Amino acid sequence: MTISADLPFEAILEARAEAVEALLRRLLDDRARSGEIARPAGLMAAMRHGVLNGGKRLRPFLMLESAALFDPESDSDAALRAAAALECVHCYSLIHDDLPAMDDDDLRRGQPTVHRAFDEATAILAGDGLLTLAFDILADDTAAEPLSAQTRLDLVLGLARAAGAGGMVGGQALDLQAERTPPDETGIITLQAMKTGALIRFACEAGAIVGGAPAPDRERLAEFGSAIGLAFQLADDLLDLTANAETMGKATGKDQAAGKATLAALHGVEWARSQLSGLIEQAHAILEPYGERAAVLKSAASFIADRRN
Ligand code: IPE
Ligand code: IPE
Ligand code: MG
Ligand code: MG
Ligand code: MG
Repeated sequence: MTISADLPFEAILEARAEAVEALLRRLLDDRARSGEIARPAGLMAAMRHGVLNGGKRLRPFLMLESAALFDPESDSDAALRAAAALECVHCYSLIHDDLPAMDDDDLRRGQPTVHRAFDEATAILAGDGLLTLAFDILADDTAAEPLSAQTRLDLVLGLARAAGAGGMVGGQALDLQAERTPPDETGIITLQAMKTGALIRFACEAGAIVGGAPAPDRERLAEFGSAIGLAFQLADDLLDLTANAETMGKATGKDQAAGKATLAALHGVEWARSQLSGLIEQAHAILEPYGERAAVLKSAASFIADRRN
């Protein structure tokens, strides 16, 4: 389907998700690529289970929509590949987040978690395989019209920094530490900016990179990503308190039981809701210079705050 800004927001989200998913399916098939020796069928099945299971594909969406601000060809094969790479890192983070040694969850996207459907060792390796695949996808230059070598390098470096010890992985470490030593409000904000915010921030910045935007725009999109990243985790924590597992496709009511440090737990549901609208207003204001062109991205910010799953 042709993606036009006139479509309702949900239809654009779905169309983007379908395109990214079709590509992920191809990237995760059993056929070994040049330079690989063989792809073990069991491992590949576990990787597919952790990826092709109906996620919202919000990070790829943010990347593609951010790119569309600067380049109308933003749904090119090369841009989709970068979006798929981001989703691989996100799915790996979920597979590992659900492991018994971490949040110990049995349900993800309405299905058994990877370690439940397979086993723990396979889930660890499926995560490792997806993380590595992400950088393979970004570095590869076999897209119909590949991104320039410099753009691919910028994406590789940006994703490594967002996903690594100083970003998502570091945030996950702080999240586990916080179960034993509760952080103060600043500590919670830092933890969340890292575990969830870093990848969402990078999704928006990566769009600017793919779209060939100048440095100030790249910075502006990163700033937008930070605001909605914080909003995203605030909404996730609120939903953990208020929603049920059926709508969410994952267990809820677990953060409090596990002693997770969240702003919603610290200040209550009402405070969290008003904070959420403040963050969305802030995110909308950051996009003001782009006027109507940023309408879809603005709707994405509102979707993050109002989402039901
Ligand atoms: C869930 O992310 C994990 C968090 C970072 C809070 P999403 O809500 O984007 O999960 P999927 O990809 O749609 O399943
Ligand atoms: C997960 O945060 C963040 C990452 C996977 C990096 P949560 O632990 O709150 O996510 P859910 O609630 O399990 O989806
Ligand atoms: Mg967690
Ligand atoms: Mg979790
Ligand atoms: Mg959560």
